[in-house]
Amino acid sequence: MLVNAAEMLQKAKAGHYAVGHFNTNNLEWTKAILLTAEEQKSPLIISVSEGAGKYMGGFKTVAALVKTMHDSLGITVPVALHLDHGSYEGAKACIEAGFTSVMFDGSHYPIEENIEKTKEIVALAHSKGISVEAEVGAIGGEEDGVVGGGECADPAECEMIAGLGVDFLAAGIGNIHGKYPANWTGLNFEVLDSIQQKTGDLPLVLHGGSGIPAEMVRKAITLGVSKVNVNTECQLAFAEATRKYIEAGKDLQGKGYDPRKLLNPGFEAIKATVKEKMELFGSVGKA
Ligand code: 13P
Repeated sequence: MLVNAAEMLQKAKAGHYAVGHFNTNNLEWTKAILLTAEEQKSPLIISVSEGAGKYMGGFKTVAALVKTMHDSLGITVPVALHLDHGSYEGAKACIEAGFTSVMFDGSHYPIEENIEKTKEIVALAHSKGISVEAEVGAIGGEEDGVVGGGECADPAECEMIAGLGVDFLAAGIGNIHGKYPANWTGLNFEVLDSIQQKTGDLPLVLHGGSGIPAEMVRKAITLGVSKVNVNTECQLAFAEATRKYIEAGKDLQGKGYDPRKLLNPGFEAIKATVKEKMELFGSVGKA
């Protein structure tokens, strides 16, 4: 059975490690992520963005795929199925669809509106035993070729949102989604420290986990980060392995065009990336 993410993240915060949140995109991704968590005896948050959910045939398809595959593969480690960067409507739809955890990202609203909407989602989700992630301070990334620096959240606003009973909180500390630009100035640990002081035991979430130097990730974990989100690194690993297979002409040899063969190098590359991240986050053996 899938679980919500509250307990695994409280344990991570108390134990000074982080649980990896890995975005899924399709069946191969889902299987690679689930199997690696089981092999590493690590708790897991498997997540889908609204865009990927639509691509996969809707949130109900995602919930059915993850739940059924989890059971058929005999996964025993704690696994939460989470909505990444949910809109208000998206979060409600996932609560209905059988997700065990949702993020409501109200960071683009004025703080008063973010508070109101977060409160509503918390009440609805908690009535069904579903955990909630909220966000303060937008997380940067590439848009139309312009790479924005990550914003830093206001610790006082984090305290307000934390007070609404959310289970974990994403707060911008200079992190961005996608590849980090060469002139990126790094994570802002002073801001992270002040956020932790204002939010106490609440597990904090680091988005944009791809491409952050290992030392910075470790330091962020010592300052209260208990969940690290990774998407781009799995995509890059999958693309690189698939490209190598095709460039070597392997799809033209024998039945190399069979999707089970064609997609296998990418599948193995996702597994290797997930394993490496679980080792870095310290979640191996914590299930
Ligand atoms: P990356 O794609 O940069 O790893 O970010 C993932 C993320 O934060 C998903 O919410």
